[in-house]
Amino acid sequence: MPESITITDNRTGQTLEIPIDNGGISATAWSKLLPGVWFYDPGFMFTASCESSISYLDGEAGILRYRGYPIEQLAERSTYLEVAYLLLFGELPTADQYDAWQHDVTHHTFIHENVRKRFLEGFHYDAHPMGMLVSAVAALSTFYPEAKDITDAASWNKQVLRLIAKMPTLAAAAHRFSVGMPFVYPDNSLDFAANFLSMMWKTAEPRFEADPVLARALDVLFILHADHEQNCSTTALRVVGSSHADPYSAVSAAAAALYGPRHGGANEAVIRMLVEVGSLENVPAFVESVKEGNGRLQGFGHRVYKSYDPRAKIIKETADRVFEVVGKNPLLDIALALEEIALSDEYFTSRRLYPNVDFYSGLIYQAMGFPLEMFPVLFAIPRTVGWLAHWQELLAQDVKISRPRQLYIGADQRDYVTIGQRG
Ligand SMILES: CC(C)(COP(=O)(O)OP(=O)(O)OC[C@H]1O[C@@H](n2cnc3c(N)ncnc32)[C@H](O)[C@@H]1OP(=O)(O)O)[C@@H](O)C(=O)NCCC(=O)NCCS
Repeated sequence: MPESITITDNRTGQTLEIPIDNGGISATAWSKLLPGVWFYDPGFMFTASCESSISYLDGEAGILRYRGYPIEQLAERSTYLEVAYLLLFGELPTADQYDAWQHDVTHHTFIHENVRKRFLEGFHYDAHPMGMLVSAVAALSTFYPEAKDITDAASWNKQVLRLIAKMPTLAAAAHRFSVGMPFVYPDNSLDFAANFLSMMWKTAEPRFEADPVLARALDVLFILHADHEQNCSTTALRVVGSSHADPYSAVSAAAAALYGPRHGGANEAVIRMLVEVGSLENVPAFVESVKEGNGRLQGFGHRVYKSYDPRAKIIKETADRVFEVVGKNPLLDIALALEEIALSDEYFTSRRLYPNVDFYSGLIYQAMGFPLEMFPVLFAIPRTVGWLAHWQELLAQDVKISRPRQLYIGADQRDYVTIGQRG
């Protein structure tokens, strides 16, 4: 039975039937029926901006799937590089495809010496690593000018590979520069996460051996952050990509969107909040003050999830494994107490506020030794694959350039007055 709604245009008395397809109403259908009437939806609260077959998210039921596979199964059994392949190509790789893919990513991890020496080393000594990363990704487009030709499939695939492979190298380089440590070249004998840890932490030892538990924990965090349908940065990517900008520029724009504290910075805000709470006995008073409207419980609530964020559950288990290796983050007990009180408090339950992905991820990153400034960078590394999957999808769909309308609320027409006569 096809679904539809019927509305009456009271200006004309005309009755209109509008079909509902896959839970949505086509704006093209509306525009034909109601020419000149715009939907006013700042923040895209009720607007689907595209069709996508990459991630499925049900916020009511707490479900996240990549290409149909539940995030729980991928986090438990897959690797970040396998998930990257899945997101980009739609299917899990065969053993041969996986070997070739891993080889290709591993052999594109080096960055041009001028990116490091002339570009990254030109930043001020205390530059924020995320600012460095956003700029460095944009700068890559000047090193690979063939990326501008988005119709050349071979070039297109090469740029995707380069971006996924070089992101950890750029991220680690930004960190090393900001703490005055020498750059560490990629080690092609290591897997994706272990290589990143090597580039982050290697000092004088001939070879850096990451703890396998920590490397696996980071890989799981990368899986959990790889895609999340039409969030702010992916939307930015789609808008820029729709103008047919090269992928480096589009990914840089997405990373810039991720830089904002409302998006990629929430896990840092959680750590700052836990430090502010300071001790277990302060927890009840802190929760009361949040309920009275003094700030928010950081890492709680989500625009889409109205139940427990499925990624938060996995992160909590991952945190336990990390703490067994590096020792418990002293802020963990405060986090657990906050969660326990909030989950049994009517204020939070009635508003359906549950821990989100950021509530525990910052605790893990901090326990692993990452400085707070690196948190959004750690998010950008894996999300690059999600951005690129959406970039490929939008080009394959040959979408129109993004160009919303506005509701004008400014002055009516008025005549220019010369400067001396303005009062
Ligand atoms: C994520 C977030 C921005 C979603 O916001 P949203 O969907 O626009 O929800 P709203 O801001 O409309 O909030 C709805 C209600 O819940 C309350 N609320 C939402 N998040 C809250 C939080 N973390 N702590 C306390 N109250 C919160 C709001 O005050 C509001 O209450 P009201 O109805 O009495 O006014 C919001 O939950 C938030 O700010 N969380 C903290 C930051 C965070 O963890 N961000 C990472 C997201 S992955």
